[in-house]
Amino acid sequence: MSETANFKLNDALLGRLLRARSVLVLTGAGMSAESGIPTFRDAQTGIWAKFRPQELATPEAFAADPDRVWRWYEARRKTVREANPHPGHHALVEMAAVVNELHIVTQNVDGLHQRAGSTHVSELHGNILRSKCHLSLRPIGSEWIEESSQSPPRSPYVKGGLARPDVVWFGEALPTAAVEAAIEAAARCDFCFSIGTTSLVQPAASLPLFALEHGAPLVEINPAQTPLSVHAAQCIRGKASEVLVTVISQLKAAKRENK
Ligand code: APR
Repeated sequence: MSETANFKLNDALLGRLLRARSVLVLTGAGMSAESGIPTFRDAQTGIWAKFRPQELATPEAFAADPDRVWRWYEARRKTVREANPHPGHHALVEMAAVVNELHIVTQNVDGLHQRAGSTHVSELHGNILRSKCHLSLRPIGSEWIEESSQSPPRSPYVKGGLARPDVVWFGEALPTAAVEAAIEAAARCDFCFSIGTTSLVQPAASLPLFALEHGAPLVEINPAQTPLSVHAAQCIRGKASEVLVTVISQLKAAKRENK
């Protein structure tokens, strides 16, 4: 594994990326950090400072105090709505136009990849701006949520049902369709990026290793080392936006030269 301080892909990997049939990009909270969305390991702020995310993002916490959990998510939704995709998100949109096929699998619930224009995105942990009924699990529209004065809003479907964010809480199963799409993408890819994740949380953390087993070289983009670093062909120690902007300009230059 080569660790580089400059943000360039080495020539061998740049060549592999250019020729890649299918590229998998796994992203974590670090991908959204530069858009102002705190990572999970960043300390909580304000009234939530005394809680660990793991204390609020569980079915048990919601059952015990739905109002408190709903208010926490409303605060996070405000941060997400005020955030914008950064140049790294846009670089991935450009990369999808240069390589043959690119599939983003994200652990993030902020929808920033889609807001930047990425189309092939699997959300493993759901999306914080969507809501569903905590009993019937049926989706609840944002109009119903906005018109409600209750915290949390009542479900329009079943008596006793409450609105909850459409995210995966600790201890809950991941959405089947997203997991299947992610596994399929990891099996078919021949190049894999892991960006802004500690690679600790399963099953997401296994995806790059699965891609590796299928012969795809792995590039990690993260200012810090992770358990995945030893498996990577190259670790680029920088922030997602500065590294991806560098890599996409390399890729476009290489594509022009190849013509
Ligand atoms: N660019 C790239 N990487 C960054 C940046 C940045 N600007 N800033 C921080 N990082 C890296 C950190 O070094 C760390 O390795 O992003 C990672 C963020 O780690 P976590 O907060 O643990 O996020 P993640 O790995 O996505 O957590 C996985 O855990 O808590 C659950 O469901 C939650 O989706 C989350 C999952």
